[in-house]
Amino acid sequence: MKFFIDTANLAQIKEANDLGILDGVTTNPSLMAKEGVKGNEAIMNHYKTICEMVDGDISAEVFSTDFDGIIAEGKKLAAIHPNIVVKVPMIKDGVKAIKWFTDNGIKTNCTLVFSAGQAILAAKAGAKYVSPFIGRIDDTNWDGVELIAQIAHIYTLQGFETEILAASIRSSLHIVKCAEAGADVCTCPLDSILGLLKHPLTDIGLAKFLEDAKKM
Ligand code: G3P
Repeated sequence: MKFFIDTANLAQIKEANDLGILDGVTTNPSLMAKEGVKGNEAIMNHYKTICEMVDGDISAEVFSTDFDGIIAEGKKLAAIHPNIVVKVPMIKDGVKAIKWFTDNGIKTNCTLVFSAGQAILAAKAGAKYVSPFIGRIDDTNWDGVELIAQIAHIYTLQGFETEILAASIRSSLHIVKCAEAGADVCTCPLDSILGLLKHPLTDIGLAKFLEDAKKM
């Protein structure tokens, strides 16, 4: 399973990248706004900086919701760097645009996916990634990880090549459960990645080894 970081914060991207286990980055308008990135030029420059920091797919989301607007925006984003993946919402014009991008050699990530039916449409349109938002599904008292397993089962059965990118990750346990359920990629906040390191027995064991090492 690939590890992406789900943020537009450059310090966090650097910290995850320095760990040596980072395969890519996902952003969205909320994450970009959180970093105070405003205006077209600043947005483009921010994506360029991320592409120069991380050697992997970098998702950049369109704001338009009509076919022509999505295509125009997506072309500009894709021109920033070969690693840019155009992130397109799961709406009618979005699906149409994903098909157009696929036919024209531009990689896409279909976002805001909450059902297996939506995931089938994204795969039919040729999206490189499909992003089910598992944390937001959990928020509605459904099991987001179950959706990952359902999509993985359908994609395997049908031979779809779209990669399942588990998004809206809220914990380290989510990452483990998504790996078990067959996600190809997990895009995570830095804290959830770092949380995978933690186990109290590791801390206790290390303290004992260090204490005994003094007697050697
Ligand atoms: O990758 C999508 C993600 O950014 C949404 O996460 O926590 O806002 O549901 P969240």
